[in-house]
Amino acid sequence: MLKKFFNHKAYTYVILMMTFVLSYEGFSQTKYKAFHPGELWLDDQGDHINAHGGGILYHKGTYYWFGENKGKDSNNAFVGIMCYSSKDLYNWKREAVALPVSTDPDSEITAGSIMERPKVIYNKKTKKFVMWFHLELKGQGYAAARTGVAVSDKPGGPYEYKKSYRPNAGQWPENFQEEWKDRPATTEADWWTEPWRKEVKEGLFVRRDFEKGQMSRDMTLFVDDDGKAYHIHSAEENLTLHISELSDDYLSFTGRYITLAPGGHNEAPAIFKQDGVYYLITSGCTGWDPNAARSFKSNSMWGPWEYLGNPAQGEHANLTFYSQSTYILPVHGKKNAYIYMGDRWRPKDPIDGRYIWLPVFLEHDKPVIKWFDEWDLSIFDQQMH
Ligand code: DGJ
Repeated sequence: MLKKFFNHKAYTYVILMMTFVLSYEGFSQTKYKAFHPGELWLDDQGDHINAHGGGILYHKGTYYWFGENKGKDSNNAFVGIMCYSSKDLYNWKREAVALPVSTDPDSEITAGSIMERPKVIYNKKTKKFVMWFHLELKGQGYAAARTGVAVSDKPGGPYEYKKSYRPNAGQWPENFQEEWKDRPATTEADWWTEPWRKEVKEGLFVRRDFEKGQMSRDMTLFVDDDGKAYHIHSAEENLTLHISELSDDYLSFTGRYITLAPGGHNEAPAIFKQDGVYYLITSGCTGWDPNAARSFKSNSMWGPWEYLGNPAQGEHANLTFYSQSTYILPVHGKKNAYIYMGDRWRPKDPIDGRYIWLPVFLEHDKPVIKWFDEWDLSIFDQQMH
């Protein structure tokens, strides 16, 4: 009898220990119920999510997070564009690599190229998922400044790589003055001097890149209520943002575009629309180091865009809480619910870059971002509207 009792106790003990070990090792998924900006964020397999500079697509009840896969030592692409999926935005499942790098050394997306800031949009007419991303050709640093496009029938991929290029070759921006078009494409003025700044504002680099196409580095996409899609990117040596219209199938540029904040040195564009007004959040240009975010608003994508200042408020607002914007996510099913998605880069250990997700609210018609150590989506139900 005693022997039987003892065996039963030992059996229970073994089961308990196994349960503990299995959950500790990450075999059972961590269940998040809130966002913890800046902390490690584990996927369903127990690994820190590897989707930097990302963007999110919502499709039929699921969110798909696309981002850059980064390694330990390098920012270059050796895996490709990652995809994670989630129903609740807190817990993420790792899907297959959405757009793998190519093993062909002659491919534009060969391993060792730079693939940054991917964004995916869904085209209702063609029923295709379209990914655009910033592409730098292998071995050329950031000189190529191209945008690349890939397409898939399924949200999670695999995506078929189509092409990359500098957009809007041979096209003038819609807000470009007639008398700027015939001026020279070079200047005697030294960089960063007042005369040079004036030249930049009056289209120096648009003229320089007119034939070969405009530079396209940090970028985002936006689909408007009428189904028109826009590609917003840092152009002109990162000095000026361009907003470009995409074709109806979202696979090319129509050639219609404007410049935004010429010479203003904006990177990391992220956009949302609330009550018919467009709000754009950007950063300054300080490489991987954080700086103060900026914001703009407009009643039309075609401008005029009004500068609104730094949307971050509180301690470390001057460095946007050590983050740089990448996307603004509308929360499905909630009114006026937007999440600022930013990256806290770790250039010495890129894979360890952290995600700074915070709610964005409008105050006096300006976007405002405040820090929370922990928060959840119920914050959007507490708004005083
Ligand atoms: C800042 C950009 O926002 C990043 O995406 C990346 O291109 C780095 N610069 C490279 O220095």
